[in-house]
Amino acid sequence: MSILLTGGNGYIGSHVAVALGLAGRKIVILDNGSNSSINTISKIETINRAHVPYVFGDIRDMKLITKTLREHDVTAVIHLAGLKSVAESIEKPLDYYTNNVEGTISLLKAMNSQGIRNLVFSSSATVYGTPRQLPLDETHPTSATNPYGRTKIQSEEILADLARAQPEWRIACLRYFNPVGAHQSGTIGESPKGIPNNLMPIITQVALGQKSQLDIFGTDYPTPDGTGIRDYIHVMDLAEGHAAALQFLESHAGWHAFNLGTGKGHTVLELLESFEKASGISIPRKISPRRPGDVAKCYANVDKANRTLGWAANRSLHEMCSSTWNFCLNFPRTTTCTSPH
Ligand code: NAD
Ligand code: UD1
Repeated sequence: MSILLTGGNGYIGSHVAVALGLAGRKIVILDNGSNSSINTISKIETINRAHVPYVFGDIRDMKLITKTLREHDVTAVIHLAGLKSVAESIEKPLDYYTNNVEGTISLLKAMNSQGIRNLVFSSSATVYGTPRQLPLDETHPTSATNPYGRTKIQSEEILADLARAQPEWRIACLRYFNPVGAHQSGTIGESPKGIPNNLMPIITQVALGQKSQLDIFGTDYPTPDGTGIRDYIHVMDLAEGHAAALQFLESHAGWHAFNLGTGKGHTVLELLESFEKASGISIPRKISPRRPGDVAKCYANVDKANRTLGWAANRSLHEMCSSTWNFCLNFPRTTTCTSPH
């Protein structure tokens, strides 16, 4: 009996693989390598001290998915595979709808054909659009301002329809807030192949001298220091949330959404200060205009996940920054903190 991790070679997937290993679960990873390295598998194996079967392939390849589900005796799927850049999704919407929405449908069809109906889906806080009230709880209306966000809303809606039509489905949509940090071993971490858009990978580029400065997008937001507030969550806390969700699904049918965050917001300057302390490096910065599409504040109400999943994020902002830096120091040669491809 195995858990299939689509996109399990990626940033979050590799940490989920480790968390599941620790929880004593057998896993199989399927990934097309579009944003990850094959080398990650051996790192996961070293941490887990177990062989991790790897299938190189695409979630849109229904035949391959069906074969994988059958051959590895899969009982549940954690579906992380997807494209995740907002900017790229605006330029190439069809790539995003094909990969993220069509890919999800193919996976669901393959699962249905094999009678496997347990699914944890990687969703995002982006489904809340511009917050109407804070903290954001799971009843907040969904909306999207870009194709990436729409692929997450559409996938969630498809999953909800499926659970309504076939009550044997057990589905948890995990709405991630802002994952940062790395495993304590420093061997797996965030390894985007292209140009990063998110704050932490950009800070590390500057720290490593690969970028001259950090642009701070806006200092006139209605926040204590004028910079944007986000709910940064340690990727290992996030990963452990997946193990908790799988356990929850063992006794709960239907469609469920959960926020995975800390419930606390931090400004850009707070994160910067914490990173500087953790790394001992000062980060040159420049005040820049607001980034289009950004909201002032975004943080979660995590009561539902705390109560229902028996899960809570407890690693500190300092641990998020120090583990990120530890990973970067292990792999400083490449363009971002990338383990060698
Ligand atoms: P990532 O790019 O590091 O990992 C995604 C993995 O999926 C990669 O290894 C990639 O090669 C693989 N992949 C992509 N398309 C595929 C396909 N068609 N078939 C097979 N494999 C495919 O990204 P991540 O940060 O680990 O994100 C994982 C999931 O979580 C994504 O669905 C993303 O949208 C979601 N999410 C991420 C964040 C974040 O800030 N990192 C926030 C919210 C939600
Ligand atoms: C972004 C995406 C969101 C996605 C999330 C996680 C946009 C508009 N939103 O959100 O859809 O779900 O990533 O992948 O892209 N910042 C800087 N300078 C930088 C980069 C960021 O000041 O160079 C600031 C931003 O203005 C924001 C904070 O840092 O206040 C966090 O930014 P980021 O890491 O991109 O995450 P989100 O804005 O939450």
